[in-house]
Amino acid sequence: MKFSVALTITVVTFFGIAIDGNHCKVVQFIFGDSLSDVGNNIYLSKSLAQANLPWYGIDFGNGLPNGRFCNGRTVADIIGDRMGLPRPPAFLDPSLTEDIILENGLNYASGGGGILNETGGYFIQRFSLYKQIELFQGTQELIRSKIGKEAADKFFKGARYVMALGSNDFINNYLMPVYRDSWRYNDQTFVDYLMETLKAQLKILHSLGARQLMVFGLGPMGCIPLQRVLSTSGDCQERTNKLALSFNKAASNLLNDLSNNLPNASYKFGDAYDVVNDVITNPSKYGFNNSDSPCCSFGRIRPALTCVPASSLCQDRSKYVFWDEYHPSDSANEIIANEIIKKLGFQRVDRNDHAPSPAPAFAPSSKD
Ligand SMILES: *[C@@H]1O[C@H](CO)[C@@H](O)[C@H](O)[C@H]1NC(C)=O
Ligand SMILES: *[C@@H]1O[C@H](CO)[C@@H](O)[C@H](O)[C@H]1NC(C)=O
Ligand SMILES: *[C@@H]1O[C@H](CO)[C@@H](O)[C@H](O)[C@H]1NC(C)=O
Repeated sequence: MKFSVALTITVVTFFGIAIDGNHCKVVQFIFGDSLSDVGNNIYLSKSLAQANLPWYGIDFGNGLPNGRFCNGRTVADIIGDRMGLPRPPAFLDPSLTEDIILENGLNYASGGGGILNETGGYFIQRFSLYKQIELFQGTQELIRSKIGKEAADKFFKGARYVMALGSNDFINNYLMPVYRDSWRYNDQTFVDYLMETLKAQLKILHSLGARQLMVFGLGPMGCIPLQRVLSTSGDCQERTNKLALSFNKAASNLLNDLSNNLPNASYKFGDAYDVVNDVITNPSKYGFNNSDSPCCSFGRIRPALTCVPASSLCQDRSKYVFWDEYHPSDSANEIIANEIIKKLGFQRVDRNDHAPSPAPAFAPSSKD
């Protein structure tokens, strides 16, 4: 049984190469912040947003820190796995080669990064979305010089693109009085400014060949433990949640608009706001026992900005919605990923699907 499956894959791959004359696999390129970072910030030595110490990564692989700001998998990990796509390595991974990129794609996500250049300045070093797109352009040049322009164009048009940023633009910019944006804009004009910037960025990605792209929306970020400690009651920050909702609504419209107007673009927006809100309100319904404080915490000192080796861990990590002050746990990420998959309705990608076909996004081409 196993043997015949292996044989079929070999045959299909063989024909794929024969038809194409090159090995264009379907891979992902990921742009994001700490919710999707898989190690870039570890190599930004001056960055104050790092997940390079225990107990980050405790439920992932060998249990050592790997750069993910989580105990386990990110939402993008889980969604990519379900689509049958390889997990792209971090852009700054020193062992990277062109062949690794052609086989696995690349992840530019960086903790502290935002849609806006000025977001997260407090972390000293991070890749903003513009910077990540610039790095992607460098990757394209590298791949073109390796496999030629035509094959490279095909490779980049067939790839899947994931973009997940925005919470830092609020939490580590607009809502912090130390940032200029906090007094330059109001809630509405700030969201407009984000959308204008995001639109320009998505258009650049389209001009660079991105055809199948999904943007993840924001969760109820007023309920992250860090936001709750801002009030003596420990309640969620309603204004912050409203900003997330308003971002999601505007981003959803933007993506619809771009998808309809950019040639061959299948650009989708998916958020899990409502489900996460329900998880936070009714944790036991989903098998959680805590939805308001971090699993990894430093005694009674709150907020402890990151999880550190001296922190203590909750007894059952799978029963906590939040891993640290900012980030959901692996179990919560699984719920978020399932919701986005349900909303966007994509299926597994056939790894040998070479066609850079437009719609339906994230579904195997019907031609194959
Ligand atoms: C943002 O940063 C990029 C470099 O990463 C730069 O090219 C661009 O002009 C900047 N945009 C603004 C609006 O400052
Ligand atoms: C859109 O797809 C068609 C068919 O694959 C192709 O001929 C055309 O050049 C594409 N346009 C753009 C802008 O990618
Ligand atoms: C967590 O579990 C304890 C002990 O079973 C229970 O008393 C408590 O109400 C639970 N908390 C939540 C939020 O489910």
